Amino acid sequence: MNAHSGDAAAAGAGQRVTVSSIRERKTSERPIAALTAYDYASARLADEAGMDIILVGDSLAMVVLGYENTLPVTVDEMLHHMRAVARGAKRALLVADMPYMSYHASVEEAVRNAGRFVKEGGAQAVKIEGGRKRLPAVRAILDAEVPVMGHIGLTPQSLHRMGGYKVQGRVPPEAQALLDDARALEEAGIFSLVLEGMPRELACDITRAVSIPTIGIGAGPGCGGQILVFHDVLGLCEGNSPKFARRYLKGFSVMKEALERYAEDVRAGKFPSDDESYHSPKGAPLRFPARRETKR
Ligand code: KIV
Repeated sequence: MNAHSGDAAAAGAGQRVTVSSIRERKTSERPIAALTAYDYASARLADEAGMDIILVGDSLAMVVLGYENTLPVTVDEMLHHMRAVARGAKRALLVADMPYMSYHASVEEAVRNAGRFVKEGGAQAVKIEGGRKRLPAVRAILDAEVPVMGHIGLTPQSLHRMGGYKVQGRVPPEAQALLDDARALEEAGIFSLVLEGMPRELACDITRAVSIPTIGIGAGPGCGGQILVFHDVLGLCEGNSPKFARRYLKGFSVMKEALERYAEDVRAGKFPSDDESYHSPKGAPLRFPARRETKR
């Protein structure tokens, strides 16, 4: 069996999602379901729940590492999480988010870092924030055989330039610039495009204008798919979440309550029970004399 016949043999329910199968979804009625994941457990959950795409997002800086924004996270930190996700996810397409300053200083550095996500992290593609000004990096990464997912609109790595997390493209020149960015990225050869934090009407226009699937986050229902942050969907972070982040579980309070019950059981001597303990072999109990008290 060669590498290609392996693909054919894998056809069926458990088949790995590929960049080409995501591209093909442009013409499908079925929106793409995408989610972030950051470790083995979250990757298994996302994968077994049937996500098409798992993104190891740089949002991990905030939801996993506790930073105030995404800017401090490094390539090495992202790779550490990428590898864990790759061990947990067997079916979804795995995309690594390139963190701030991993593709900004030079095209060479961008290619080297993108390559690390594939070689060392097990990613099938990388995601890059920004439009036309990122084209040299995008083209060079594509030339190195690494598929690229674009990301325009509210791009969190541009936090300081934007002056906060603000919806983008509300005025015509901004909307036109985003449409031009989308077309230029498509022409460069990206396989899909994340549209974040923009009016739903603009997201629809961009989706109609390009031949690749768009994946929205805070961009309304007209995109080719949707992506959310794992911790937002499961309600794992308390506090204000953006209005587009639908919460399917009050994970923080459910988990906190379980942990409180565990601590109570330990303190009340109710954990572990006899059933939760190992026993010496019947008939030959291993018993040792109590340790003698030593004088100080
Ligand atoms: O890092 C992230 O979580 C993202 C979003 C698009 C989901 O980039």
